[in-house]
Parts: sequence; C-alpha cells; structure tokens
Amino acid sequence: MRGKDLRVPIEEIERQREIMRLVRETDDRPQTYHIVTYGCQMNVQDSQKIAGMLEEMGLSYTDERESADFVIFNTCCVRDNAERRALGNVTWLNEIKKKNPKLLIGVCGCMIQQPQMADRILRQYPFIDLAFGTQNLYRFPELLRQLLSSRSRVVSVAQGDEFDSVPEGLPIRRVRHEQAFMTIMYGCNNFCTYCVVPLVRGRERSRKADMILSEAQELKNDGVREVMLLGQNVNSYGKDLNGEMSFPSLLRALDDTGIERIRFMTSHPKDLSQELIDVMAAGKHIMPHVHLPVQSGSDRILTAMNRHYTRAQYMGIIARLRTAMPEVGISTDIIVGFPGETDEDFEDTLSLVREARFDSAFTFVYSPRAGTKAAEMDCQIPPEISKARIEALIALQEEMTGRALESMIGKTVTVLVEGLSKRSENQVMGKCERGITVHFDGGESDMGSMIPVKITASRTNSLCGERI
Ligand code: 5AD
Ligand code: SF4
Repeated sequence: MRGKDLRVPIEEIERQREIMRLVRETDDRPQTYHIVTYGCQMNVQDSQKIAGMLEEMGLSYTDERESADFVIFNTCCVRDNAERRALGNVTWLNEIKKKNPKLLIGVCGCMIQQPQMADRILRQYPFIDLAFGTQNLYRFPELLRQLLSSRSRVVSVAQGDEFDSVPEGLPIRRVRHEQAFMTIMYGCNNFCTYCVVPLVRGRERSRKADMILSEAQELKNDGVREVMLLGQNVNSYGKDLNGEMSFPSLLRALDDTGIERIRFMTSHPKDLSQELIDVMAAGKHIMPHVHLPVQSGSDRILTAMNRHYTRAQYMGIIARLRTAMPEVGISTDIIVGFPGETDEDFEDTLSLVREARFDSAFTFVYSPRAGTKAAEMDCQIPPEISKARIEALIALQEEMTGRALESMIGKTVTVLVEGLSKRSENQVMGKCERGITVHFDGGESDMGSMIPVKITASRTNSLCGERI
C-alpha cells in the first residue's frame, strides 16, 4: 500500500511539450527517424510513445534504418540473447554512421536501466549519441534537445525518486487503427528469482482508473475496436491505489465502455482470482484468452523460482477457467534449464504441458541475469542439456498446439482483420476471440472489420477458414 502520488506532475509533461515545440522549430534537427524494438509489448508501447514524441518534434518515420537521420534501439534485457542482438545491431549501425556522420544513434529501454550499463555505454560504445532508461522516457524531448544543442553525447538513467514514476499525457503514435495497447500498470513486485524485470522496471504502480477509462473512451471514439491492457502482472492492478479499484472491477468498467474487444496480459497465477474468471465469463467484450505463464511443472522448481503457486494450484485455475468459459484459449511461458532442474523436474514440465492443453507456449532456455538470485544459485545447467530439453518441449507443444487447432475445425469464430496474409495476396488475417490467428479470402477493404468465419483447416500455428 502506498500513499505517495507517483504521477509525473502535469507541469513537467507541459514542460516536455514546450521542448517538443522548440525542437520542431530548430533548423538543423533530424528530419527522419527509425525505431528498432526488442522484447515485450510493454516495449512496443514505449516505442509508440517515443514515436509520438518524435512526430510532435517534427520528425517523420522511415522504414529504412540505413537512411534515417535518427535511429533508436529500444532494448530488452530479459535474456542474454536479446541483449547481444541489440548491441550487435547498434555496433553494425556504426558502420553506416562512419559514412554518414550526421546519423544520430539512440539506445533506450530495459538494457540501459541495468546497473552499471550507463558507464559501459560511455566506455565501450562511444558512437551512441543518446542513452536513457525506461523510467525517464517522459524526459526524452529534453534529452534530445540537450543532444542537439550541445552536440555531445547524453546518457541519462533515472534513479532515486524518479525511478518509480507514472507519466500521463504523452503523445502516442499508434501503428494500427483497429487495435491499441494500453498500459494499465508499470513495474513488478514479484521478484521471480530468474527475472531482471523488477530491477529495471521498478515497483508496481497502477495508473488511475479514470485515466485508463477516459483513454479507452477516446480510443473507442477514434474507431479502435480492440484494446490490449498491458502490465507485467495485471492481476495485481490497483493494489497500490488504496483499494480504489481492483483488476476485475477495472475490467468490468472497461466492458461497460462498449469497446468491442478487451484483452489483457500478463496474468500471474498467484493473483488470478475467481472474481476475475467470473467477470471474464460475464463480460460482453472481454475476450476468452488468458496468457498465464506457468514457467515449470515441478513444484520444487516453482518454489526455487519464487512463483508462489504449486502445479496443482495452477492446474486448478485452468480447470476453473475452462468450467466458466469452455472456449477459453490459454497460452503460457515456460523456462527450461533453471538452476538445479533435474530430468525428473523437466518430466514434470512435459507432463504439465500434456495436461494443460495450451493453445501456445513461449519457451525459453534459462538465462542467468546479473543481480537476480538465480544467477547466484549452484547447479547451473550445462547448455547441451538445456538445448535437448527445449527441443523436446517445443516438439511436444507443437503437437499440443496442433491438437488445439484441430479442435477448432467446423467452429464459427469472429475475426478482427489486422492485415493481408503473408502467404497469399488474396487472403487476410486476424485473430479470433481466443487469440488464434485465422486466414481467409479477402482484401484491403476488409481491414479493421469483424468478420464471422467458419474454420475449415489448421496449419502449424494458425487456422484457415471461410467467411460466412
Ligand atoms: N531466462 C529465461 N527466460 C526468462 N524469462 C524471464 N526471465 C528469464 C530468464 N532469466 C521469461 C519468463 C517470462 C518471459 C517474459 O520471459 O518465462 O514469463
Ligand atoms: Fe519477472 Fe516474475 Fe515479474 Fe513476470 S512476475 S516480470 S517473471 S518478476
């Protein structure tokens, strides 16, 4: 429980808006920008905010990284490979900068927010012009202006009071018209022992419900048909707001706004209540899809991960979800090779995957992260064992996904059309209620429409159908 108002004062946002106007009027500012985003939806939404601010500063988006005046890498550090890929691409862009010294390179996001990273950037990556973390994103206009006026590099990572902020009122550039992300809370309090997120995103802080509801109303008025509510652990939404609003009550209130489709992620099993299941089942617009990371099927490993639920409790939630919503789609995240994971623990994960019948799963090899408890644990698993395990897990999940998709054949679903199908020019694609991608005949004029489709066949990760 927390009394302190963490919102960034409106005067501060106004000040940034004024700086955006000043940059817009600057003659020698960059004209075009490109953003490369790594990681989760939260980062995608942060990139949309950066793009929104850049456009207010008069820059326009270009698809081509090589020809942009300003390229920003919005990074992730949840696993080592995400970090290496980002740094590899930043270094590669330096080759372009050698030919075009006017090119500005910015790096932001979770990787930068890690302890000591700012120092490392200053020492090892002298060609990075601007670096900032996740927590001072709202100060981006000021940092960019500083860079443009001083022409010397700016590295600024929020700490102390600034760390746990809730900014409101930043411009956002949304790429798609029919769908929008909406962050409802920032940070995470869970400290799963493998996870760096609480260290780089700070403690849980919820946006005020009235802000969320008015944004939803605006989106609806703009023609948005589906919103995806975002948070590292949406089920604990509101716990820091002195009990003003819980996640189920927020969902109910959003359902009443009449937005046609509401989705949310990510749910933590320890906080997924029966009330939430009931609200989902009763809601008119809440889609029957839950992303519920299980991480492991072994109780011993779940305890070592600090997940606060047992396998039986997890399976109990799945059973209750399916009782309330027989057509619910459940997806998950699973880690293999957590320190100390035995063959038996891994077998438990495989058997859980068989029992749970997930529509899909994101599967990861455990990656030690500096500053987390698991990185200090004994019995780190050799890479060859983790590799064999992840291959076995992927093969099993593919089989389970195949079965889940086949069970949809003959059913009628409603698809919100997102784009043209990559496989065929005469087909469009979009998601059905439970979040599975469906392809069917159509064209440009179907974009953003809700179309009833009868499922006729399944592919590896998607469905095919015929419009009704
Ligand atoms: N190693 C591997 N996977 C991780 N995840 C988080 N931290 C790590 C790590 N250190 C996975 C979890 C989480 C997802 C977003 O990323 O499965 O749910
Ligand atoms: Fe990381 Fe656990 Fe928080 Fe998810 S719930 S962000 S895995 S600490």
